[in-house]
Order: sequence, then structure tokens, then C-alpha cells
Amino acid sequence: MRKQIAAANWKMNLNLPQATSLVADICSTPIDLEENQRVIFAVPFPYLVSINQMIETRDKFLTAAQNCSDKKSGAYTGEVSAEMLHSINVGYCIVGHSERREYFGETNFVLREKINQCLDHDICPIFCCGEALPVRERGGQNELVELQLNESLFHLKADQLTKIIIAYEPVWAIGTGKTATATQAQEMHAYIRWLLKNQYGESAAELVPILYGGSVKAGNAKELFDCDDVDGGLVGGASLVPADFIKIIRSLKF
Ligand code: 13P
Repeated sequence: MRKQIAAANWKMNLNLPQATSLVADICSTPIDLEENQRVIFAVPFPYLVSINQMIETRDKFLTAAQNCSDKKSGAYTGEVSAEMLHSINVGYCIVGHSERREYFGETNFVLREKINQCLDHDICPIFCCGEALPVRERGGQNELVELQLNESLFHLKADQLTKIIIAYEPVWAIGTGKTATATQAQEMHAYIRWLLKNQYGESAAELVPILYGGSVKAGNAKELFDCDDVDGGLVGGASLVPADFIKIIRSLKF
């Protein structure tokens, strides 16, 4: 059965006391998770070790990095490798968030290397794709997402593909309060799954969780997550508010 995932992307927010207090609040709340459900906290690098310790006793709670290097190791001051993440028991890493593409010039080809680094070191990449507003306005979203997948993922073998998570995050919905409608989200998720099926066959395509990201809130999560091909969310702003994120976790379908 495909995993259903509520992932928090804190981005560059919270100091350490604020971060631990947020996780403590969430951990002190009873949340029943089904066998196939996971909660992932994508937190800034300096907090990974402490947050990992805090969630150690919570089954199905996991941490993710928000980025990693496209290089294995060496003289790359300021970079963090996938191998380093693995060595501190981090199992997931966001790759290709639109903010990294836009502000740090990450191309599909650099992201392909990051994907390879993650898979080489047993890190599950959460690969972000999605179009900006002008592309949506001219109806070019399918073509753009196909190119992103093609250039960053489709070199993988089927057994590698099933070790990744995809997050569809339309740029126009990120931090804007403007969410894709459930219909828009389902349409794109079904299209992504169709692309995966074409490339890798049905059984592999059916295993890949596809998360929706972009103004997921406590009030709209259920409607989005109830869509057939939406397997949960990658949540920015609302993941910084314990009550909201808990409600979002509880909106996951089985
Ligand atoms: P918001 O939920 O704040 O729109 O951010 C979405 C996002 O970028 C998650 O990666």
C-alpha cells in the first residue's frame, strides 16, 4: 500500500528553543497513525540531531533535510553531503524545492545529481516539481512538470524510482494563501502518475507517493488529501503552528 505522508517544511524559520517547543507540542499530542502513514519534519540542518532525538520514541515520525549537496565530498565549503545526513540517521531530503531553483539557481541537471547522491546514501529524496504562474496561465504546466521529471528522475531504474517521493508544488500556490483546487491537484497528480507509468510500468508508478504542496492549511488538507492520487502534503507555513499541523496530519487518508 502506498505511503500517506504529512511533511513539514519549516524552511528558514524558528530558533532552536522555538523548534524544540513546536516538536514537543506535537509529540505530546496523541496522534494515531495507520500502518502506511508517516510524519516527516524537514528542519534546518543544525536541528536535525536534536529533533531526531526528540522523535525517537514516536513510531512513524521522521526527519528530513531541506537540501543536500550534489557532490559526494570534498572542498565545497558550506555544503552538506547526503553521506553526512545518513551518518546522523536522517532518512529523507527535500530536493529541488522551487525556492532553491529560483534563489540558488538549481537546475534540473544539478537536481539529478542530488537525487543520485541521496539514493547512493540511502536517503529518500522528496523531489519537488511544479510550475510558476505564467506557465499555468498559458496552460504549459504538464509540459513543464514532464521536463522536470524527465531531466531529474527518468535516468533512474524502476527499483530506484520506488525509493523516492514526489511533491507537486505549484509555485503560484506557495506562501500565497492561494491553493490549487482539489481538481487541479488531482489532475496534475494523475498526470505525474501517468508519466511514471509510461516510463516504469504500473506497479512501480503505483508505489510512489505524490504529495501536494502550496498553502496546505488545516481547513483544506482533507479535501486535497482525499483525492485519489494525492498521498499527503508538503506543508510550509501551517506546519509551524502545532494545532494546524496536527489537524493536517489527521487529514491523511488510509
Ligand atoms: P506554504 O505551505 O507556506 O505555502 O509552503 C509550501 C511549501 O513550499 C512547502 O515546501
